[in-house]
Amino acid sequence: MSITLDSPLDMHLHLRDGEMLSTVAPLSAKTFSGAIIMPNLVPPISTKEELLSYKARILEATKGHTFKPYMTLFFKPTYTKEFLESLQDELIAIKLYPAGITTNSEGGVAGFDVEELRPTLTAMSELNIPLCVHGETNGFVMDREAEFVSIYEMLATNFPKLKIIMEHITTKESVEALDRFENLYATITLHHLLITLDDVAGGMLQPHLFCKPIAKRPEDREALRKVAFEGHPKVMFGSDSAPHPQHAKESCGCAAGVFTAPIAIQVLTELFVKFSTIEKLQAFLSDNAQKIYSNITIPKKQISLEEKTFLVPNKYSNVVPLYAGETINYSILEIEGD
Ligand code: NCD
Ligand code: ZN
Ligand code: ZN
Repeated sequence: MSITLDSPLDMHLHLRDGEMLSTVAPLSAKTFSGAIIMPNLVPPISTKEELLSYKARILEATKGHTFKPYMTLFFKPTYTKEFLESLQDELIAIKLYPAGITTNSEGGVAGFDVEELRPTLTAMSELNIPLCVHGETNGFVMDREAEFVSIYEMLATNFPKLKIIMEHITTKESVEALDRFENLYATITLHHLLITLDDVAGGMLQPHLFCKPIAKRPEDREALRKVAFEGHPKVMFGSDSAPHPQHAKESCGCAAGVFTAPIAIQVLTELFVKFSTIEKLQAFLSDNAQKIYSNITIPKKQISLEEKTFLVPNKYSNVVPLYAGETINYSILEIEGD
């Protein structure tokens, strides 16, 4: 029996630039209808020119596929309403990084002084531009996300009309925050539905499973699975597929990020089937996002999958994917509209 999914969306994706962009972009563009593109290049995307030329490079790299890149800016507290207004047709959201907390986030926000952030966040609320947040403090690594919940609450209360997306949540504390504030939403990755810290560091260290935020405890994974598997309307799929060259992962000083783009839909299907909740995958993978980001247009694409083994390649160029060299149990049967 085949499983059919309509217009899958990846609401958190790293495509990088240059050769890496050429390697990874077609892999997402083949199976997804669209994706929110993270702005953490070096330097980060923070001007209209940078955003438009990055978008053009992505379109070039995904030529021949039905795929829409939804562009973001790297949050700066100095963006004015006029500037954001001039970009409104091109911009889906703005991504806020605490300074230095993850890959290429050095220019992010240091300290969360609400008055310093107010002008830009007010303009975003007025223009209905969502705020996507990497929510970690610089505390103890296992506690960073839970500690950040109070900052989410501060933002959600001060800017009640601003849609705030808690990106790549990994803890039960973040899941609980979802239902406390009307304007909080979340993305969840594939890998955080699959693994816990044990898989990363419980045996031999697994650099390809190392990412920010780090995978947490079994009860955290349980909380994530619960809302993903029930198709909770405030939760969307965001792969956070974050490719790094093999040498940067398999090295002393491993870069953070798990590369899942080429197998994300197949493994999500396998997981949702395994937990008898496949009828909720459409909501998690597309429908919820369409409702939350209400003004996006989505290219039509239909992907069918079947229960059939697929041997995951060891590498895509110089990038090692999740489950490299292993067999997964669902394969793509057909893609219509690509
Ligand atoms: C991401 C990257 O490599 O850009 N890494 C990661 O571990 N998730 C950055 C991010 O999303 O925080
Ligand atoms: Zn992040
Ligand atoms: Zn990311």
